[in-house]
Amino acid sequence: MSDGAPWWRDAVIYQVYIRSFADADGDGIGDIAGIRGKLPYLADLGVDALWINPWYVSPQADAGYDVADYRAIEPAYGSVADAEKLIVDAHEHGLRLIPDIVPNHTSDQHAWFRAALAAEPGSRERDRYVFRDGRGPDGAEPPNNWRSHFGGPAWTRIDEGPGQPAQWYLHLFDPRQPDLNWAHPDVAAEFEAVLRFWFDRGVDGFRIDVAHGLVKDPDLPDLTDASDQLGRTYPPGGHPYVDRDGVLDIYASWRRVADEYPGDRMFVAEAWTPAPERLARYVGPGLLHTAFNFDYLLAPWDPAALRETIDVTTGHLREVGASATWVLSNHDVVRHPSRYGRPPRVREDTVTYALDDPPDLALGTRRARAALLLEAALPGGMYVYQGEELGLPEVEDIPDEARQDPTWQRSGYTVRGRDGARVPLPWSDDGTSTGFSPAGAAAPWLPQPEGWARYAAARQQGDPGSVLELYRTVLHLRREHPALGEGDLAWVSAPGDEVLHLRREPGFACVANLSGAPVELPAHDEVLLTSAPLEEDGRLGSDAAAWLTVR
Ligand code: NOJ
Repeated sequence: MSDGAPWWRDAVIYQVYIRSFADADGDGIGDIAGIRGKLPYLADLGVDALWINPWYVSPQADAGYDVADYRAIEPAYGSVADAEKLIVDAHEHGLRLIPDIVPNHTSDQHAWFRAALAAEPGSRERDRYVFRDGRGPDGAEPPNNWRSHFGGPAWTRIDEGPGQPAQWYLHLFDPRQPDLNWAHPDVAAEFEAVLRFWFDRGVDGFRIDVAHGLVKDPDLPDLTDASDQLGRTYPPGGHPYVDRDGVLDIYASWRRVADEYPGDRMFVAEAWTPAPERLARYVGPGLLHTAFNFDYLLAPWDPAALRETIDVTTGHLREVGASATWVLSNHDVVRHPSRYGRPPRVREDTVTYALDDPPDLALGTRRARAALLLEAALPGGMYVYQGEELGLPEVEDIPDEARQDPTWQRSGYTVRGRDGARVPLPWSDDGTSTGFSPAGAAAPWLPQPEGWARYAAARQQGDPGSVLELYRTVLHLRREHPALGEGDLAWVSAPGDEVLHLRREPGFACVANLSGAPVELPAHDEVLLTSAPLEEDGRLGSDAAAWLTVR
């Protein structure tokens, strides 16, 4: 790893989906005390930082992405005092901590939204959100044709009481997540104050939710293609709510706030942009530090697609002096052993998966192990989504009545949504929830499937063939090896080769065999690690990867 560079340029950041990580108080919901209890595990795993999904007071209409109070902790998770203790404890374990911030929308239970409902149309309170009169003779039609990401119209009409034609408010997600109006000065001031509130308590940065979506075209024009929620059919920056240039002004201000604090505080953007060169703009000088590389996550297990994404990403980022991030899974997408165990899909299906034929999990897991070696060999930082280190697959048989993701209901029960990536973690063979909760606890908030204990951390610990031990070995080697982390890569394989072969200096190579047959390892001094045992004749099997020392 490089010396002297800010930590986030090549950190391994572990995503803690707090509801499903570890439940210390026995209510069936993960909590801050549960995270504190697992800090030794996380430090031992070899990660550098934790990103924690929203932990604020929330009615949980969208698993905490509907925030009612940004300065208070959801009671089921603990208190601000607990969060402060976690920050101190994490730092003592050598782990940095990054909460989520949700600036595009609040909960409908936020004090501002309640005040907006109580206030008159045209009032300052209403103007912190996006309220409009409806179309049609009695305003009964939504103000435009925008759609919610969870299904249905992006507008809900309120009840104004008798005599008033009721207004509508915008929600690009669930109706219980009204969009804020970032043209209103109160909004910018409030979020800067919230950043300071948590920076003052020692957090090391923030993950910014829907970072591409804060600024809307004030005219709120109809979409020319109502299904285009990502801006693909518009010229750059031309979509009425995706990736508009004005968002960068917001982040320039946020950067100034972060820079007031000592110790390399950082931001990572959840920014969905139509093209990678647009993403690079978010991480230009004086703006955000990093952004999730979703193109890599969305790439199929295909050598040409992976190589192209790696080259395009690193190329654009190099131009602005930013470091890359590499991500394979998170709480919004199908877990990658299940993705890689199916034939490649079109890009969107990675997220809104139509779960049909069961995946080949043996194949998917073999590929996921190889994918880890490739990912961890790339220059920059990387994210590990909780349970990825246990080799968890997507849970595809959650009973419909147990589903919690608003997508399920909003899509008219057609899109099952993201619960399958959010099932509480299996820690051990103990109790009824595989060690997620203490004995005698309430049932976990999402049911765990039959046989979940076979993925338990305690079962894998010390087993050299386990996914958990592979992660530990990879992350520790990555931390120690001078060629890994920040820096450049050079391809040895040619474009179009089915075996990806890259070099990092000094003296390191990664080979990933995405062809259908075993291949000879290239010349090397030492095999540091392989994702699967080599064939008897020493060749690298299909869907396997190796780390080598080379001259
Ligand atoms: C992205 C988050 O990752 C997702 O879980 C959430 O539903 C939406 N943003 C809305 O906040």
